[in-house]
Amino acid sequence: MCEEITFVVVVETRYSASLQKRFANVAYVATIKAMKVLSAMQPSGTLHLGNYFGSMLPNREYQETADQVFYFIVDLHALTTVHDPEVLRKSRTDAARDYLAAGFDPEKSIMFFQSSVPQHTELQWILSTLTPMGLLERSVSYKDKVQKGLDTNAGLFMYPVLMAADILLYDADKVPVGKDQKQHVEMARDIAQKFNNAYGDTFVIPEPEVRENVAVVPGTDGQKMSKSYGNTIPLFGDEKAIQKAIMGTVTDSKDKDDPKDPDSCVIYQIHKLLLSEGDAATLADEYKNGLPYGDAKKKLFEAYMDYFGEMRKKHESIKDDYIATILEEGAVKAQKVAQAKMEAVKKAVGLV
Ligand code: ADP
Ligand code: TRP
Repeated sequence: MCEEITFVVVVETRYSASLQKRFANVAYVATIKAMKVLSAMQPSGTLHLGNYFGSMLPNREYQETADQVFYFIVDLHALTTVHDPEVLRKSRTDAARDYLAAGFDPEKSIMFFQSSVPQHTELQWILSTLTPMGLLERSVSYKDKVQKGLDTNAGLFMYPVLMAADILLYDADKVPVGKDQKQHVEMARDIAQKFNNAYGDTFVIPEPEVRENVAVVPGTDGQKMSKSYGNTIPLFGDEKAIQKAIMGTVTDSKDKDDPKDPDSCVIYQIHKLLLSEGDAATLADEYKNGLPYGDAKKKLFEAYMDYFGEMRKKHESIKDDYIATILEEGAVKAQKVAQAKMEAVKKAVGLV
């Protein structure tokens, strides 16, 4: 006799109670996990073009394609370097304003301050008890800070464990980051695997996602654009500061009308991020035909203001009260997810 088996595929987030009832007599229910994407940003400093293309844009796009998007401001990580309360208070609100202006939609993603969800530090402790010292000692970003003679502290050393907690708490499948953060996500994978091996499957193993074509946005001096190198082009704030940064971009010493090589020119490398493929090719031809660097910079400035004009307007209009409400609502949603995960973790390790 042939038994009839019906396969029903249900996306986890939509596997509601009513569906379960409807398919109660179905022989097998296969569940396809909904895709969860998570990323976070330090609130230290003015948002720049590198942050936008390396982190914000890829994350924002996930709002349209992922089933759940978590995006938060890591104010606890910021405490490893920012010890002025006024500066931290202002910078975390400013960072939230930046995201909202740049198109993060609280209807589509869960936005909150890391410190509003106490489970991050709770999980960090538990994970730290499984994290080998050697793993943390290999952190490129930590070694870099030591080498630069920055004041180190235990928090800075533990930074990757808190970041692992940030990620694992929400069962994130994908973590879009800039190239410099890839190692930290790999550490989160290692820590999750260690935990799962020790206590049974508890955490999803997250995948870092680095967009190769925008992996490193160059700064105005040709090095990686970074707040710590003082070579950034800001997204928001004073137009004059943007102009000054662009006009100060390094060039080689070619004469005004000499043919220029777009591929080795920082101005072009930045400009092409703002253009379609076709427009970038046309601009490359202009460089090869001798576009003077002064004109190239003016073109970049115009394109920049054009590209970010709408966002800059929105940025001006977002009030602190609105930010506080949106992030509090986000924190409530995040806490629900985080609390359920912590219950599973505590059960797994024997704390309940
Ligand atoms: P900064 O280097 O200015 O301190 P952060 O370390 O705060 O920037 O980076 C925030 C996010 O933006 C990270 O995901 C990081 O990888 C990304 N990012 C920062 N600078 C760049 C860059 N020049 N190119 C690509 N992504 C970047
Ligand atoms: N370390 C990241 C940065 O400096 C910020 C961060 C903290 C993060 N927790 C995270 C990024 C979790 C992605 C996922 O950019």
